[in-house]
Amino acid sequence: MARLDAILCRKPLAAYCVMQAARHWHCRFECLKFLFSFLFGDCPLAKTSVAVTTKKKSSASAVSKAKGSSANQPKKELAKKSNAKAAAKTTAKLEAKPAAKSVTKPAKPAGKTKQTSVVQAKAKPSVKTETMRSWYDHPELYELGFLKETPKESEFLIDVFEKYVPFPVKRVLELGCGSGRLICDMAGRGFSMTGVDLNPMSLDYCKKKLKKERNKAELVVGDMTNFKFDEPFDAAVNAINTFRHLETEEAALAHLNCVAEHLKPGGVFVLSLHLLPKGGDLWGTERWGAKTEDMSVYYALTVVETSMKTRLEKLRISMLVKTKDESFRLSDHITLRIYTVEQLKSLLAKCKKLKLVGVHDFWYDIESKQKLNSDACDTILVLQRT
Ligand SMILES: C[S@@+](CC[C@H](N)C(=O)[O-])C[C@H]1O[C@@H](n2cnc3c(N)ncnc32)[C@H](O)[C@@H]1O
Repeated sequence: MARLDAILCRKPLAAYCVMQAARHWHCRFECLKFLFSFLFGDCPLAKTSVAVTTKKKSSASAVSKAKGSSANQPKKELAKKSNAKAAAKTTAKLEAKPAAKSVTKPAKPAGKTKQTSVVQAKAKPSVKTETMRSWYDHPELYELGFLKETPKESEFLIDVFEKYVPFPVKRVLELGCGSGRLICDMAGRGFSMTGVDLNPMSLDYCKKKLKKERNKAELVVGDMTNFKFDEPFDAAVNAINTFRHLETEEAALAHLNCVAEHLKPGGVFVLSLHLLPKGGDLWGTERWGAKTEDMSVYYALTVVETSMKTRLEKLRISMLVKTKDESFRLSDHITLRIYTVEQLKSLLAKCKKLKLVGVHDFWYDIESKQKLNSDACDTILVLQRT
């Protein structure tokens, strides 16, 4: 009774204000919950529903980021329309994660406080986070996240060579080859591979892997905008957004021209990159996981800055590594150039020696031809040397 008195005396104004604020029916339940917690302290009803709301919110936004797809669409359809790679990862990656590629807009500061308090209550002791000098200085951890799809990518490349190149492809150049997951896989299939990358640590790792697998490839530390080889190649590859590391139009064009100059006439350049579809969300987080016998790695790639004016997006890559003995997190930032279809077309038009002959997507299906239109998202271009 004394408590009720105190409540009635000290809090009626607050109660009135909260109810007035609930001008819409759907707000009233939330306001009542808030009022209960305010009046009676810890309100279990309010706590539970905050947790539920948080969960619902993130899965709903994961679906809504799937570029205009309906939440009820079957997963394969949804992913195919919006982001093929997401679905591929869903099946391939760790089951512990709710979705291989859940894309979430960063929470607004106001909502964050509420969500954080719930998450913190349940969170395990936090793991140590270290800033990496570069994500690519950890080639083993980097490539684990993409290894499962590598054979599919290689098989697709072979399909492309057979379909588009008028002569047998033997000599293949990969630009920005990194850890060499494709170099090693393709070398194992009998191709004569050459890789160029800026990162010597990645190339050292690749060299060791080739040796272990008793394969050979030529590896060169160099810039993919300016390289020189004496012999021309039958085909060239630039995989999974590596091209978007080139931050300016000049660098991107220099890259295309340099690749073209190193291809035999009729040879192809297979370029895969993510495009911003019309109405696509500039913000997002992509999460996935992968594991070996000894280690699990959870990856989160989050857009932290983005600008259509500069056409650059800054992404934070975070790798949570768990082994039998320890858990730690490594974090780094990368900057990528943004391309809409129109911007890509305008760039391609400037490179006179390469002609677009095929468009595919990250399903790596040679039969499924795509169109380079404003819906294009994860895109693989086949550019032929004229
Ligand atoms: C996303 S990783 C891709 C690695 C590899 N192609 C794959 O598919 O796993 C991008 C790679 O491009 C390299 N890179 C970035 N800018 C470069 C440049 N200007 N010239 C050569 N390599 C570059 C990085 O060092 C990194 O290894």
